[in-house]
Amino acid sequence: MHVIDQRSWDAVDFVMHLHELGVRRGAEIGVLQGDMSSKMTRVIPDLHMILVDPWLHVEGYNDVTNASQLVQDCRHNLVKALMPQHTVIRKTSVEAAKEVEDGSLDFVYIDADHTLEAVLRDIEAWHPKLKPDGILAGHDFSTRHLMVVQAVCDTAIKWDRSLIIYQQDDIWRMV
Ligand SMILES: C[S@@+](CC[C@H](N)C(=O)[O-])C[C@H]1O[C@@H](n2cnc3c(N)ncnc32)[C@H](O)[C@@H]1O
Repeated sequence: MHVIDQRSWDAVDFVMHLHELGVRRGAEIGVLQGDMSSKMTRVIPDLHMILVDPWLHVEGYNDVTNASQLVQDCRHNLVKALMPQHTVIRKTSVEAAKEVEDGSLDFVYIDADHTLEAVLRDIEAWHPKLKPDGILAGHDFSTRHLMVVQAVCDTAIKWDRSLIIYQQDDIWRMV
């Protein structure tokens, strides 16, 4: 596995690269309040996104994104209102994947549950949704999320693929 570590590249570079690669249909797995998908929508004309998130409060799960159910409902409403042109699926990653045709997406951006098992599960569920040259990418390739790093590296080694790391914003992209 070859890692191309781009220290100065950030999320804007990533979105610009997606634009340069001509993407038209993509999915974001783990949307929160839509910051990343809003960025993509502003930069890439005619983009259609599938936005997947259960927006569900999980009792006892200690994470900043795990807000009350009221806040989760607000996030869901905000995303629908901000980006009415996209398809919002309020389900977990694996359940949502069953609703998406195989080979139909130009890219998938994974940023949901950051445990090892979950990232591997998300990759397994969403990789088949990509077109042959489709782009698999995601967030939190960093020392704060070592399970994400492990899942992504294990997959890259298994598939004999390389990784580009947009280090300023911890984004990974398989190439
Ligand atoms: C780090 S936030 C996403 C941030 C967003 N990608 C952005 O850049 O603004 C993680 C999100 O993943 C969602 N999530 C957690 N488990 C999930 C699952 N199994 N499937 C889909 N989304 C999940 C959470 O509800 C939360 O909104």
